[in-house]
Amino acid sequence: MDTEISPSAALVARDAKVFFHQDGSSPCLAGLRAVSGSWIEDLDGRRYLDLHGNTTHHIGHANPELIAALKAQLDELTFSPRRYANEPATALAELLTGQWPAGPAKVLFTTGGSDAIEVAMKLARVATGRSATISLEGSYHGHGFGAFGLSRAIPDARLGSFLPDRVHVRSYWKHGADAMLQDIERALVTTPGGVAALIAEPIRSNCHVPPAGLWPEVRRLCDAAGTALIFDEIPSGLGKTGKFFAFEHFGAQPDMVVLGKALGGGHLPIAAVLAGARFDVAPELALGHYTHEKNPLTTRAALTTVSIILRDELPARAARLEQLVRARVAGLAASNPWLRSVRGKGLLLALELDRAALQHAGEANLLASLLASGISTTTKGDDAIGFSPPLTITEAEIDVALTGIGRAVAELARESLPSAAGQPVT
Ligand SMILES: Cc1ncc(COP(=O)(O)O)c(C=O)c1O
Repeated sequence: MDTEISPSAALVARDAKVFFHQDGSSPCLAGLRAVSGSWIEDLDGRRYLDLHGNTTHHIGHANPELIAALKAQLDELTFSPRRYANEPATALAELLTGQWPAGPAKVLFTTGGSDAIEVAMKLARVATGRSATISLEGSYHGHGFGAFGLSRAIPDARLGSFLPDRVHVRSYWKHGADAMLQDIERALVTTPGGVAALIAEPIRSNCHVPPAGLWPEVRRLCDAAGTALIFDEIPSGLGKTGKFFAFEHFGAQPDMVVLGKALGGGHLPIAAVLAGARFDVAPELALGHYTHEKNPLTTRAALTTVSIILRDELPARAARLEQLVRARVAGLAASNPWLRSVRGKGLLLALELDRAALQHAGEANLLASLLASGISTTTKGDDAIGFSPPLTITEAEIDVALTGIGRAVAELARESLPSAAGQPVT
């Protein structure tokens, strides 16, 4: 019997022995050898179009301009201990605050999105003198005890207690805008001591677009209650939805926005809290002085990334490619009963599939079938798969992606639902 396993499978097996297993991360799908542009390649030489990229790959994997900038930075300045300024960190802060559409702004950088969410919570608490937060049940804001507590009213009991003073409201994507607004209005009025901040993604990264008028109304309610509105744009910011800030679609200016993921170009970890300068009220407090808060390499990565996004007008490109994807999917759906439609904005998209068919096939089978067709992605809820490529993806690559998805879905339909078999897919 042949007992040899492939290099990719061998690495996955080694990985499984030494990493704690956790939902969403293990088991690994393959061992990677290289990433480039819209593609990832495993150790067995299989290439996949990366329609997930953890939403970090706005400027494409292994962007050559970013790699050159990082190599130059390594020759120049590699670290900046706390209480020293350095050029890339300051220039990044200047560039980001310059994008803020509502007057003077300031920033703090962290190494991860979860930490940045917690810095934003602290700023809001200090500025308002209150401690309670409102967040949407079923949202996701990171894994810190503060950030994860925002996501669920009752996280798994085995994890113990989270921050107190958390009020969870019904979400627009599950219960509709009216229910969400009713809950928010009640919480703002009845929470003892008042509410410091309402924290939400302006467009949920499961790609449910909020109804028009929702965020302006939330803004109005927060203003009336003296509550800060914090938008978590960790996946949706930096041009992904077709505008630099996702909130620009919705007519509501937040008090703070949290950026992350793609900020480091997908190469290095960095996140940011960007807020009106009026939140600079507690110089005597440490709000998040992280070891790498002004790391010259992470900030060089972000400075280069944001400069590329602005220079190459990638937000507008994402908006244009969204229309292309919608048109192509409409064409495909006509001959494939599994494919329904597209939801989302820009290139933060999900392809909606027939829910019953998806459940029948099973999520794991669907993702395996997509991988076999050269597509790396995730499910988005129980009715969709993510279509979240880099903003630099070519039109030809979009066609390759949709052809691969069409093929995978049709094959699965043939296997699991004989009645839907034989639908031609182009
Ligand atoms: C909406 C949202 N907020 C926060 C986070 C946490 O970011 P990080 O994983 O960098 O801590 C994520 C990560 O997926 C996210 O999607």
